[in-house]
Amino acid sequence: MHIVEANGARIPAIGFGTMTLKEQVGIDMTAAALHAGYRHLDTAQMYGNEREVGEGMRASGVKREEVFLTTKVWHNRLAAGDLERSVDESLERLKLPQVDLLLIHWPNAAIPLKDTLGALAKVKRAGLTKHIGVANFTVALIEEAVRLADEPLVTNQIEVHPFIDRSKVLAACRRHGISVTAYCPIARGKVPGNPVIERIAKAHGKSAGQVALRWLVQQGVIPIPRTAKAARLQENLAVFDFALSPAEMSEIGRLARPDGRVVNPPHAPKWDD
Ligand SMILES: NC(=O)c1ccc[n+]([C@@H]2O[C@H](COP(=O)([O-])OP(=O)(O)OC[C@H]3O[C@@H](n4cnc5c(N)ncnc54)[C@H](OP(=O)(O)O)[C@@H]3O)[C@@H](O)[C@H]2O)c1
Repeated sequence: MHIVEANGARIPAIGFGTMTLKEQVGIDMTAAALHAGYRHLDTAQMYGNEREVGEGMRASGVKREEVFLTTKVWHNRLAAGDLERSVDESLERLKLPQVDLLLIHWPNAAIPLKDTLGALAKVKRAGLTKHIGVANFTVALIEEAVRLADEPLVTNQIEVHPFIDRSKVLAACRRHGISVTAYCPIARGKVPGNPVIERIAKAHGKSAGQVALRWLVQQGVIPIPRTAKAARLQENLAVFDFALSPAEMSEIGRLARPDGRVVNPPHAPKWDD
């Protein structure tokens, strides 16, 4: 598995997203992803499937230390004290003493970021997570977080795919050695059928989904595609045996449009990039 290094963390270059995968499907798909070769799993307190992800990890037989596991704290649990309780609850559901990466799931302007980052640093020092990071942070929030954090931030997990331009936030993260993890890397299924991506895919003998994932990994971005179909697990991993030309990379980059965003909940901060 290829690795992305960021502020002391070694993160497998592609991960398995588990949102919506619950109950037996959650357990089975987690175990199947590990059998297929994934070594990076993404869950969250809010997904309601930490129990299933933990069980799938144990069912797979893959050693705990071989798997990079991320979970997240929801935006209503970010106050000091509450964050620590949220992490204890997550670990209890996962039946694990530690995760590899703990993220702020969404920023919350009503809770001082300094307090949240202090609580994250505290749980890291207590050994409950190896690394800390953020998700859905804008350029301004990344700059503020870097200024306030006592422990290094290793990733900003944000929406990245060919239909939105994230160049400014990508540049801000790179400036600080923070990796970018891409959620919705295949735009929740909107990538297949795009004529430009389909044409490039055909030229490489690959699927449209694989081209979108390759476009990300070739920029050093870490995609975490989700699938509930076992056959697609291998497909989404097989993106390291071909390369897109500079012209193909730019052509895909030009597909970005102002309304290309897939996830935009009411608690999302206003993008400044
Ligand atoms: N931090 C955050 O705020 C945040 C927000 C959203 C998501 N996430 C994380 O990011 C992960 C991925 O994002 P996502 O699940 O929203 O979107 P996604 O991975 O872009 O899209 C998943 C959808 O694409 C389909 N799909 C998967 N592989 C495919 C392929 N090769 N070709 C065609 N279609 C394919 C899947 O259908 P099938 O199941 O039928 O294959 C599923 O409907 C989540 O699971 C979650 O872990 C984080």
